[in-house]
Amino acid sequence: MVVRIAAKLLIHLGLFLVVASAGDERGAVARRRQVLLREKATLLALKLGFTLPSPSPLADWNESNGHVCGFTGVSCDW
Ligand SMILES: *[C@@H]1O[C@H](CO)[C@@H](O)[C@H](O)[C@H]1NC(C)=O
Repeated sequence: MVVRIAAKLLIHLGLFLVVASAGDERGAVARRRQVLLREKATLLALKLGFTLPSPSPLADWNESNGHVCGFTGVSCDW
């Protein structure tokens, strides 16, 4: 009986840990998305300060481009 209770407890604990780590993972993804949005805003603000030839070599640095890591000249290390 004690063994059975201990086993149940371990299963519950295991499930809790799996759920908790899934929550951490979602949190990490959300934080990463936030950071990328901030980085994108910073780069777009920086671009406003440049005088660029036409056609712009940084045409893909724009609001509708959702992939800041793919902006020309930009790479992400995570
Ligand atoms: C914005 O970037 C996207 C992705 O590279 C590109 O397809 C689109 O033409 C760009 N928009 C402008 C206005 O340059």
